[in-house]
Parts: sequence; structure tokens; C-alpha cells
Amino acid sequence: MSAINKYHNTRVLISQIPEGVAPNVSHFRTVTEVESPVLQEREIYVKNLIFSLDPYIRHEFSEGQTESSVVGFSIAKVIESKNPAVPVGATVFAPTHWAEHSHIQGDEYLNDVHVLDEVIDPEIPLYAWNGVLGVPGYTVYDSLNSVGDLKKGETIYISSAAGTLGQLAGQMAKRKGLRVFGSAGTDEKVAYLKNELGFDGAFNYKTVPDKRAALTELVGEGGLDIYYDLVADDTVEIALDLLNPRGRIIFIGLLAGHQNKEPHAPKNLVNILFKQLRYEGYIVFDRYDGFPQFWKEWTPLVKEGMIKYTQVVKKSDVAGLPQIYVDLLNGAFQGKVNVEIASA
Ligand SMILES: NC(=O)c1ccc[n+]([C@@H]2O[C@H](COP(=O)([O-])OP(=O)(O)OC[C@H]3O[C@@H](n4cnc5c(N)ncnc54)[C@H](OP(=O)(O)O)[C@@H]3O)[C@@H](O)[C@H]2O)c1
Repeated sequence: MSAINKYHNTRVLISQIPEGVAPNVSHFRTVTEVESPVLQEREIYVKNLIFSLDPYIRHEFSEGQTESSVVGFSIAKVIESKNPAVPVGATVFAPTHWAEHSHIQGDEYLNDVHVLDEVIDPEIPLYAWNGVLGVPGYTVYDSLNSVGDLKKGETIYISSAAGTLGQLAGQMAKRKGLRVFGSAGTDEKVAYLKNELGFDGAFNYKTVPDKRAALTELVGEGGLDIYYDLVADDTVEIALDLLNPRGRIIFIGLLAGHQNKEPHAPKNLVNILFKQLRYEGYIVFDRYDGFPQFWKEWTPLVKEGMIKYTQVVKKSDVAGLPQIYVDLLNGAFQGKVNVEIASA
């Protein structure tokens, strides 16, 4: 029988459910333990390297129990394995805990472990597989290809356009020959969209006097064909009015809801009937089969700088994750937020 190894492990727990407020650091606490993992068939034990911080983690507060570990995705190194497909030494992208080490068990989690060794490219930083070449990039690629059904000459509007998904959605739509418009929460982000990413127009949704007038003026007489909804606020009502016949709303995110607001319920759904619109939700989690094709198409584009991405890389210990996450929800960063807690 092989020796059971011991690992020092600091983990972040949800200590309190925020009631009526956005999460802050007092809703988390850390614990440190010594773990001796005993693995069953298919299970792996990993050392977490680079966490992907994602707004959706907010929903673990409403669904999860207090004192549970925060679950998020990370790039990690396998240090123990009972899974021949994921051997010791492999670099993986996996659902892990906000912790130094994670024991990955149960089909729900094991099925989402992706071995990266064959796809990582020395000319692209490893953290790109948390962002542009990870779940965010794939979500954009797959949702725009499947639900979006993009056609050259059409017009798309993207909310939270300077965020991780928004930037990529704009660039993909641009490459397909669409007119691309977006909104973001600072003038710097708006300038970045127009000057660096080639958006045809953008506005600051926080300072513009009238969001409806701003969007109507941007899209002009051509109207709107696709709304890529990352926020679930009242903008959807404006989009429903502006959409051309057979337009689409691709419902992706709940950014407004992550700040403890209910998603907006539009009152003008009758537009869907009269204009024969599609208002379709998209969830990436059961659609990972397309990753190999996505990597084939996007890795060369990323390598050649044809798809730009801003990635924030913070170095921290595990205990620093809650503060960085709260800052993310408050719009402090532009682009994908990575937290490097260890090197390989
Ligand atoms: N359906 C799926 O399969 C899937 C997959 C991945 C992600 N998602 C979801 O997609 C959404 C976007 O994800 P992301 O990673 O790209 O996030 P992100 O845009 O990087 O999120 C951070 C940004 O959200 C913006 N924001 C915060 N509160 C807002 C509000 N009330 N209204 C508008 N913008 C707000 C802030 O930018 P500003 O300064 O511009 O306000 C902030 O910088 C999230 O809800 C995420 O959970 C869904």
C-alpha cells in the first residue's frame, strides 16, 4: 500500500450569506488544515496555480450553505491521481476550490476536468486558458455560432462590452462582418472598445443621460439584429423595441443580478410575437464537446494577435481571493481576472 501524503491546505469558505447587499470580504473566512487525501477511482488531487475569478460565483451564496468551500475554476497541476486519463504531472483546467489544493471527486466535477498539456503553447501565457482560450472564450465562440447565427452586415449590441466575454464577442462579431456596438461603465473602457477593439460605437451606461436615446442613435436607421445580454437589466426592454424582425437576444449573463438585484422582467415581450424574435438562453456547462474545434480555430488567432484580450493577473495567497473578487464585482478591472497563487 502506498504512503498517504500530507498537504498543508488553506481554503476560503463562505461564512455568511449576504442579505440585501452585494458580497464583501466579511462574508468569507479562511481555514487551514493538513489534508491526507485518499483517492477513489477517477479522482485526482491538484495543486492550484492560477484561479479564474468569475462573477457567477456570486450565485454560490444563494445556493450554497454557509461554511462550504467556494468552488471556482483554476489551472492546476495534478499531484495525485487514480485516473489514467489525467496522470500525475498533467496541467489541467478544472473546477476546484478556492484553496491551495483540491481533491476533485464526483462525476459532476470530474467530467469538467480538461487536460491542457496537448493544447498549451509556449508562446501564449498559461493564464490565457482561464480566459480567451478557456470557458469565457469558448462561451462566446459557441453561443455566437449556435444561438447567434451571425450574418455579415447585421448589427449587434453587447452590454458589459469591456468585460471578459464582451470584448471577445465584439471582436468575433467584427471578424464576421457585423456592425458592433457596446456599452461599459467607464470612459476609459468605452475608449478602449472604440480605439483598440474596433467597435463601431460605444457609450458609458453610467453617465449617459438616456440609455434608450444613446442606443437608438448608435444603431441608427439600420436597427438592431442581435442583443448579446450579459447583464439582465432593463436594457433588454430597449433592445426588444429596437430589434429588427427575426432579431435575436442571446441571454448569457446576470451581471446586474450579481450585485444582488433581481433580473429585470421586460414588459414588452409582445415584440417577440410581432417581430418573430428569438430570446434564447445559453449555458456553456453542458456544451464542452466543441472545445477541440474551438482551440483549433482560436489558438492561432490568439497567437497572431488577431484576437486581443486584456487579462489582469494578480499575485496573491488564497486568503486574498475574496477581496479581489469583491473588487471584480465592483468593476475595478477590465478583462479576465486571474489570481496566481503558486507556480507549477
Ligand atoms: N451563460 C454562460 O454559459 C456563461 C458563461 C460565462 C460567463 N457567463 C456570465 O456572463 C456574464 C459576463 O461574464 P464576464 O466574465 O465577461 O464578466 P465581466 O464583464 O468581466 O464582469 C465584470 C464587469 O461587469 C460589469 N458590471 C458589473 N455590474 C454591472 C451592472 N449592473 N451592469 C452592467 N455591467 C456591470 C463591470 O464593468 P463596467 O465597468 O462596464 O460596469 C465589471 O468590470 C456574467 O454574468 C457571467 O456569469 C455566462
